[in-house]
Amino acid sequence: MSEQPQPMTIGVLKTPNDSRVCLLPKEVKRLTGELALNILFESGLGSSLEIEDDAYLQAGAKCQSRESIFRNSDTIVSINHTFSEVEMKGGCCFIGIFNPLFHDSKFVIYKKHSATVYSLDLLPRTTLAQPMDVLSSMASLAGYRATVKAAELYNSVFPMFTTAAGTLTPVKILVLGAGVSGLQAIATARRMGAIVEAFDVRKSAGEEVRSLGATFIEVEGYTESSNAGGYAVEQSEAYQKKQKELIHNHILTANIVISTANIPGRKAPLLIETHSVEAMQPGSVIIDLAAEQGGNCELSKNNETISHNGVTILGNSSLSTEIPSAASKLLSNNFFSFLKYKQKAESQEDDPLLNACQIMNEGEWTHPHFTKQLQPA
Ligand code: NAI
Repeated sequence: MSEQPQPMTIGVLKTPNDSRVCLLPKEVKRLTGELALNILFESGLGSSLEIEDDAYLQAGAKCQSRESIFRNSDTIVSINHTFSEVEMKGGCCFIGIFNPLFHDSKFVIYKKHSATVYSLDLLPRTTLAQPMDVLSSMASLAGYRATVKAAELYNSVFPMFTTAAGTLTPVKILVLGAGVSGLQAIATARRMGAIVEAFDVRKSAGEEVRSLGATFIEVEGYTESSNAGGYAVEQSEAYQKKQKELIHNHILTANIVISTANIPGRKAPLLIETHSVEAMQPGSVIIDLAAEQGGNCELSKNNETISHNGVTILGNSSLSTEIPSAASKLLSNNFFSFLKYKQKAESQEDDPLLNACQIMNEGEWTHPHFTKQLQPA
């Protein structure tokens, strides 16, 4: 009689300093039921959302110590790098959101331990990958949160107010970068009654911006690349100069700037120079969602709120962590969809999604960013 294959064991870890949870009991129940996987979880996995361990036990998972999870799991799932070298077990598979193109040096330790690593932020932005697209889920929430934060920090109202004591004019917001987070920031600001202008290097973003009731600002001469997977690419110096001048002119009349511009694997484009900040009215607000990648504003500091000449500048690239319940619901679906897809995929060799987001296989670099460009020791 042939032996039944052992079900795969997935360990789910807490992410320190992050109140989001990568798998909620609802999706864990589907993993243990529909996909017949063994799930081990760290005690307190859902505590930041007031979810008791009991809910995970009810969903068919087993509670274990971190050490035991590392020892007994084939795959470890967590939002970010949460492990020390001491905990690493040779040959394990890691699934998370590691921002590898920006934090490439962190992967040397996985290589040393012959790990296989998948980073879901490298999935292509295609229809097939949509259910597991963590970037879109988190960017959408970050865009919403950016507008709400701006409203908190700004010292006046968003919509036009007509009262017996006079009229308050609506706030004017400039959004730089109209990708997933920029569009959500625009939609939220428009719902709150703001007048919104937006700029993006991609001409195709214009239609989406206008459909949300905002004005699209264009700079002629943008270069596109068909190899960039729909993302923006770095522009010529002449284009960047024209762009900075135009943005400066629009900043002069804006009360709030929300900047979201990014180019994958590169430093974020510098769009707001110090002299532009100094030309803004005191009380104005800048929210820089590209802060982790170096920032769109010359003065931004990642994870800090500073004041310069009366202008408040908030630098934060993970605003979705401030709404952990919403973020965890979306992430849990994204991680579940990926695990389901991976289980069903017949072979990794020619799979467009698994190949795209795999960084290394059993300690060997597989992602072109590492094989071609960096080759860390
Ligand atoms: P992102 O986070 O990489 O960048 C944000 C925005 O900044 C982008 O719209 C980009 O064009 C813009 N940008 C870059 N450099 C700029 C500069 N110098 N000045 C002004 N703007 C600049 O992009 P995100 O939001 O992740 O979206 C990337 C692409 O993927 C977009 O085309 C989006 O529509 C597409 N997408 C497709 C999906 C699908 O399922 N088909 C799902 C989600 C996104």
